[in-house]
Amino acid sequence: MLTKEILQKRRNELKTLQEADLILLPSNMDSPMNCKDNCYPFIQDATFQYYFGMNHPNLIGVIDVKEKKEYVFGKDFSMSDIIWMGKIKFLKEEAEDLGLEFRDLEELPKWIENRKVAITNYYRADTVFYMAKLLGKDPYRLGEHISEELISKIIEQRNQKSNEELEELEKAVNVTREMHLEAMRVTRVGMKEYEVVAALEAVAAKHQCSLSFPTIFSKNGQILHNHRHDNVLQEGDLVILDAGAKLPSGYCGDMTTTFPVSKKYSDRQRKIYNIVIHMFERAEELCRPGITYREVHLEVCKVMVEELKELDFFRGEVENIVIAGAHALFMPHGLGHMLGLDVHDMENFGEEKVGYAEFPKSSQFGLASLRLGRELEEGFVYTIEPGIYFIPELFDLWKKERKFEEFLNYDVIESYMDFGGIRYEGDFVITKDSCRRLGEKMLKYPEEIEEYRKKFS
Ligand code: GLY
Ligand code: MN
Ligand code: MN
Repeated sequence: MLTKEILQKRRNELKTLQEADLILLPSNMDSPMNCKDNCYPFIQDATFQYYFGMNHPNLIGVIDVKEKKEYVFGKDFSMSDIIWMGKIKFLKEEAEDLGLEFRDLEELPKWIENRKVAITNYYRADTVFYMAKLLGKDPYRLGEHISEELISKIIEQRNQKSNEELEELEKAVNVTREMHLEAMRVTRVGMKEYEVVAALEAVAAKHQCSLSFPTIFSKNGQILHNHRHDNVLQEGDLVILDAGAKLPSGYCGDMTTTFPVSKKYSDRQRKIYNIVIHMFERAEELCRPGITYREVHLEVCKVMVEELKELDFFRGEVENIVIAGAHALFMPHGLGHMLGLDVHDMENFGEEKVGYAEFPKSSQFGLASLRLGRELEEGFVYTIEPGIYFIPELFDLWKKERKFEEFLNYDVIESYMDFGGIRYEGDFVITKDSCRRLGEKMLKYPEEIEEYRKKFS
C-alpha cells in the first residue's frame, strides 16, 4: 500500500536539489479524442504519480526545496462537475490526506515569481505549452530550461524499487499472467486475432486495470510490435502475445508468450522455441548486482548463435559473429528494459539516461536497440525478453548487400522465411546476489503450454 508517509519520504529525497528553490512536476492533462468533453482514458504522468499519488488531470505538484514544503495546485471541483460527474472527494481533501497543501491554480503564476524553478522535459505538447506559458518561456525552446540534476535524482530514486513497489509490481505481473493464460485457453483455429485480444484485454478490465501498452498479438510474430489483429488463425500458425496490465496505482506488467494455434508446436517451431528459452534461462542465470545488462545481452546472443549453428545458420566463431553483430539478423532488439510505473520505465526522460550510466549506448545494429545496458543494482526491476525472428524484408536486404557473408549461410536461412517469430518475456527484480522472476510461476516449456491448452480444448 502506497501510504502518505511513503509519498512524503519520496518527496523529501528531492529536497536535496541544489539547483533551484522550487520543483514543478505537472500531472497529465485530459486529452481530447475528438472534442473537449470526449477524452481518451486518463493516464497519469508516472513521475507525478510517484511523488504526489493523485490520479487526476490538470494538477501541478510543487516541492519548495528552500522552505521544505509541498503543494498541489489545481482547480477544485465545481457544482457543474458535481452535476455531470457526481460528488467525489474534493481535490483539497485528497491532497490534505496525502500531506499536501492544496492551492488554486490561478495563484501559481504569482507564487513562482522571482523563484528559481526546476522542471523536467515533457512528452506531451499540451504540457509543453502550458508550462512554457506559466514560466514565460518560448515553448519551442523549453528544453533549454530543464534541470538535469532533477532528472537524474528522479531516475536514481525511481530505479530502486522499494518493497511496497515490488508488491504492486507482483500484482501487475499476476494480472498480466492471467491475460496470457486466458489467451492460451481461448485461442482456436478459425478465430480472428482480435477475438483473442478482446478476451485477454477483458481480464485486465475485470481487475480494474488498463493496459501497460497496446497489445501485440499476431501470427506475424516477426513484426516486433505488430498492433494489427485482423488475421484468421489457422492450423500450423504460431502466435506471439506481448501484453501487460497497468494497475490503478500505475505499476505495469510486461510479458510475452508464444504458442501454437494447433494442439502442438511443430518440430521446427519447438526447436527454435527451445533456443529462445535457453537464451531466457541464460539471462536469468547471469543477472546479479554488478554485471552490466549489455554483457548479459551479449552472452544471451552467444547462446542463440551456438544453437542456431547446429541448424547450420552460421559459420565461424561464435565470439566473432556476436562481436560483428551478424546475429542481429535474428534478434534486432535488446534483451530488456527497466519496468515500473511506465512499461519502459522513465524513457520519457531519455532512454540512455535511464538505461546507461558507465558507457554510452552502442550504435551497432541490434545493440542500438538495447534499452538497458548499465550495471545492474539490487532493487532494479526489468524485463528479460529474448526472441528469434525471421524477417523476410531484412533478410532480403542483407542478402542483396552480401552482409556478413562470411558468417551467415543465406541459403539455409532462406528456408525459414515463412516461420514468423518467437519471443518469451518475464519481469525480474535484482536481489542481493542474483535475480528473481516476479509473479506466480508462469508456463514456459512447450510441453507445459501444450498440456495447459489441451485442458481447455
Ligand atoms: N511490449 C514492449 C516490450 O516488451 O518492450
Ligand atoms: Mn513486452
Ligand atoms: Mn518488454
